[in-house]
Amino acid sequence: MADAVQTVPPLPAAARPAAGAPGPASPGGGRRRGFVTRTQATEAPLDAVVHGHLPEWLRGGSLLLNGPAIWDLPGRSYAHWFDGLALLHRVHFTDTGVRYASRFLDTEDARLSRQRGRPELGGYDTPVAGGLLSRLLHVFNPRRTDNGCVVLSQCDGQWLALTESDRVTRFDPHTLATQGELRWADKLKLPLMAAHPAVDAQGGWWNVGIRFGRRCEYLLVSADRSGERRVKASIGCERPGYLHAFALGARHAVIWECAWRAHPLRFLFAGESYARHFDWLPEQGSRLHAVDLGDGSVRSWEAPALFAFHAVQAYEQGKDIVVDLCVDAAPVVEELGIERLRAGVPAAAARARHVRFVLAAGQSAAREETLPGRFELPQVNARRALAGPVRHVWAASAADPAEGGAFFDRTVKFDHASGRLAEHVFAGAVALEPLFVPRPGAGAEDDGVLLVHTLADDDVGSVVRVLDAATLEERAAVELPCVVPFGFHGAWVGS
Ligand SMILES: [Fe+2]
Repeated sequence: MADAVQTVPPLPAAARPAAGAPGPASPGGGRRRGFVTRTQATEAPLDAVVHGHLPEWLRGGSLLLNGPAIWDLPGRSYAHWFDGLALLHRVHFTDTGVRYASRFLDTEDARLSRQRGRPELGGYDTPVAGGLLSRLLHVFNPRRTDNGCVVLSQCDGQWLALTESDRVTRFDPHTLATQGELRWADKLKLPLMAAHPAVDAQGGWWNVGIRFGRRCEYLLVSADRSGERRVKASIGCERPGYLHAFALGARHAVIWECAWRAHPLRFLFAGESYARHFDWLPEQGSRLHAVDLGDGSVRSWEAPALFAFHAVQAYEQGKDIVVDLCVDAAPVVEELGIERLRAGVPAAAARARHVRFVLAAGQSAAREETLPGRFELPQVNARRALAGPVRHVWAASAADPAEGGAFFDRTVKFDHASGRLAEHVFAGAVALEPLFVPRPGAGAEDDGVLLVHTLADDDVGSVVRVLDAATLEERAAVELPCVVPFGFHGAWVGS
């Protein structure tokens, strides 16, 4: 075992709130303080308290977390978990300890919304301020948010904060300072762009956007820090599906066409929220498209109606292509509304199905197989996944609502080789995405740690749990000096 960076005994009981007691501003259980608006950033780094033994190789690196933090403004509140104004966090592992800092993303949306005291550019389920009139005034260039509160991605050395829009914001991963919007240097108009770009084995940055028109198109694009997007493939469709992510394999990108389908005119003329511009049309089914990264050729397969935020992996198997997805039974909008989550209403989205689609050469329909596990926010060893199928999958999950499960409270691991599904339950806590960080020089695919943002009822602030990725045993816990509002995805910045 590697040396510990810092080891201290657990906090004395007197320093903690009584078990189960809600925090001072909590509308529900103490763990649900993660859904409470936080208006103050921590720009000057503060010391975190480390329990247990941190692997020495984490030193010099940083866990970056992204997520919403301000859901409530004086004049009006955001309606959905996905919509709060973005706050970036940095948990920096040094030679002598761990330091925590945070900084708000300085976007046009944040500036306008703070000035006017209301959500100005809307969000997933929050309408643009001004409603239909605003839409009509901006019909040729619809206003769309740049509140990149969902994903952090490195493009050609430049760090970006993204949401489901083509407006992306550059930031410094060391200071968290906003560095302005990435201005696209091309003429493409892609009002919808996946929140999750992907990076290939050569470091190339890829993403998928949607172009509206009489014939709508998905465009697979690559880009570098110059902002010039190059179109690799175009896939036509009548009504494109909801787009959050896509899958990248060694030689193919896989785009799934959700049966939650956009109504292009509503994006231009309706005064509703982003999510209300989609219709769930299960009778039309879905399609899965595989783009050859070499020549841009596209093959497509029919599939049952599906809704999916995230892919686990995609890989080639002979002439066939395999893609594993986290599939929900229907679009997830209402159950992740911020007031429902604050009230502790169970969210089934924490238990998406783990589904494999085999896209066989010469077949018109995808073959569907249910895989073990129900989870979301999946993680794999990304480098291994770009070379072929992975053996290990980690994710966040929850107990079945019928058994009292309400929200993410555990880390799971599925081993494709053994078929074994293991879990680490954080009793009385919320436990979000388990970010996999491989040990430098590691041989085994699961040699590394999982960094899991947790908040228990009796924690003073959020706690980053450091789990052994092979065994799910806890090696260390890093107590942050404050609550980190619940977000979605993190990133590791190595030393
Ligand atoms: Fe996501």
